[in-house]
Formats: sequence, C-alpha cells, structure tokens
Amino acid sequence: MRLFVVGAEGQVARSLREVASRSDNIVFGFGARPDLDLLRPASIAKALADFRPDLVVNPAAYTTVDKAESEPELAFALNRDGARAVAAAAADRGVPVIHLSTDYVFDGKKKEPYSETDPVGPQGVYGRSKLDGELAVAEANPKHIILRTAWVYAPFGSNFVRTMLRLTAERDRLRVVDDQSGCPTYAPDIAGAIIAIGQKWAESDWHPKYAGVTHIAGPDARTWCGFAREIVQGAVERGGRPIPVDPISTSDYPTPATRPANSCLSSERLEAVFGVRLRPLKSSLADCLDRLLRH
Ligand SMILES: NC(=O)c1ccc[n+]([C@@H]2O[C@H](COP(=O)([O-])OP(=O)(O)OC[C@H]3O[C@@H](n4cnc5c(N)ncnc54)[C@H](OP(=O)(O)O)[C@@H]3O)[C@@H](O)[C@H]2O)c1
Repeated sequence: MRLFVVGAEGQVARSLREVASRSDNIVFGFGARPDLDLLRPASIAKALADFRPDLVVNPAAYTTVDKAESEPELAFALNRDGARAVAAAAADRGVPVIHLSTDYVFDGKKKEPYSETDPVGPQGVYGRSKLDGELAVAEANPKHIILRTAWVYAPFGSNFVRTMLRLTAERDRLRVVDDQSGCPTYAPDIAGAIIAIGQKWAESDWHPKYAGVTHIAGPDARTWCGFAREIVQGAVERGGRPIPVDPISTSDYPTPATRPANSCLSSERLEAVFGVRLRPLKSSLADCLDRLLRH
C-alpha cells in the first residue's frame, strides 16, 4: 500500500512519520510546505500525481483555536477549502481520504459522551471551520473517513502535556480549568489506528460502511485539571517536583474562543466498524512521559 500524508511536523503527521520509519509493508509519502500548501490546490494535485497513493491521510489544519477568532478567513481557507482540495485530489485519482476533525464541532451541553449521530453546534471559528471541512470532504470524495479526535498530545509539538511539564518547572503551583471535560488522545495512538484502518480496507477493498464520521478518542475522560494532576503525578514518579494543582472555572481563565464544557467522544463506532480501540490514558500518558522525561 502507498499512503500519502499531508503535513510532516504536526503531532499526528510526525507520529505517522515514526510509524513509517518502522514499516516495511507500507510505502509512505509526506507532503508539507513549501512544496505542498493547503492554500494552493495545484500543489496538492501535483504531490498526489507524483506519489500515486492508494490512500491519502490529511491531518494538516489550522489548529490554533483562540487565534482563529481573529483570523477566520485563514481558518476557513485551510480547514474547509484546503480540506476539500485534498479530498477532491484524492477523488480525482479514485482513492479514499482519511481526514482528521475535532470534538469542537459540538456545543458541549450534552452530559454523556458524544456519538457520531449527535447534533453538532460549534462554539467558535475553529469548530465551525472544521465542521465545514467535514461537509466539504464528504461532498468532494465518496470514499471518505472523517476521524473526529480530541485533546491531542504527543512527546513533540504544541500540547497540554508539554505545557504542564514546562509550567511545573517554572511555578510553585498551577491553576487549571476544572469545568471542561474531554478525552485526552495520544497522537502516536491515532497514527497506529490510522494504519490499522488503512490496512483493513487495503486487505478487503473499500466498503461503503467505512464512509462518514467516526470518533477516535482516548477511552478515559478527564477535566483539564484532572489531566494536569495526572501529568504532575507522572512527572513526580519520574523525579519531578511535586506541586499542587488548584481547580479553577472557565470564567477564571477567559479565552478568545468559547470551548465546549463537555466534548467527550464515544469511540464505539471505531471499534464496531474498524475493529480499533485506543489504549487507556494511564498507558499512553506513561509512554509520553517516559519519552519526555526519560533522561
Ligand atoms: N491538537 C488537538 O488537540 C486536536 C484536537 C482535535 C482535533 N484535532 C485535529 O487533528 C488534526 C491533527 O492535529 P495536530 O495536533 O497534529 O495538528 P498540529 O500539530 O497543529 O499540526 C498541524 C499541521 O498542519 C500543517 N499545516 C498548517 N497549515 C498548512 C498549510 N497551509 N499547508 C500545509 N500544511 C499546513 C502544519 O504544517 P507545518 O508542519 O508545515 O507547520 C502541521 O503539520 C487536525 O486536523 C486538527 O484539527 C487536533
């Protein structure tokens, strides 16, 4: 199988690069700026023509949630129009696209985990641009798998785990929002799942049941504060400094973008359709902290 990834340095793209370095039965191609730019559809078509993939994966996006509030045109240009261009370029070659989307398409008012059939209601520009991207991808390519993920972290890139570790070194106590819940999801686990999904259809060919939205999130829900406490505790177990983490409310930490109070995702469809289940937070967070703090 020849698998082409849009992006190279993002959390998910870089995790896929790590899989690529260990894989001998998949030929990977990666396209990133300046050669491949989501803002230039011709650069996407050329990259796919050059590589001739069997499957395209698109984790590239405009991901700065707060900044999107003041840059809506750019957010929509990347997350809607760029996403459509990738899906359409894949469709032109008759190949499926796996597209990454977000839990921020929901309004957060539901008390239980969200399923794929729940009504959407994005609260900010980022969520709206990603939702429009989902619709554009589905319209542009009948062979689409839209993977909605959440609270992504990795041993690299910009994420909550790395921010908390930096702050524990700089401060004597932390104050972290305790009234927003979500499912922390480890980028290397997303990469592993994407490969498993790709291999499944490669073995049995495309099946219409694959098409549509599928949630892919870690199985354990946390508040940001609960997640922060686990990160601090994990750091302490690896020789770090114990510091208190105080719960605060969203109103104590105002941000330009409104975030859903609950964006936990149920990943039952992922298991039912693709036979994939992500491992518990305890295991993936330990892996991440080992990689970050091993020295
Ligand atoms: N991070 C989260 O917590 C989270 C939560 C839910 C859903 N998601 C979704 O999951 C996906 C992967 O997220 P992530 O955390 O891996 O993202 P990330 O680390 O922020 O990486 C974003 C990627 O997009 C690429 N990109 C940005 N503008 C581009 C352009 N004009 N042309 C080509 N590539 C461009 C970047 O390329 P460069 O390396 O060149 O900068 C980078 O590789 C995204 O679709 C995101 O919306 C993320």
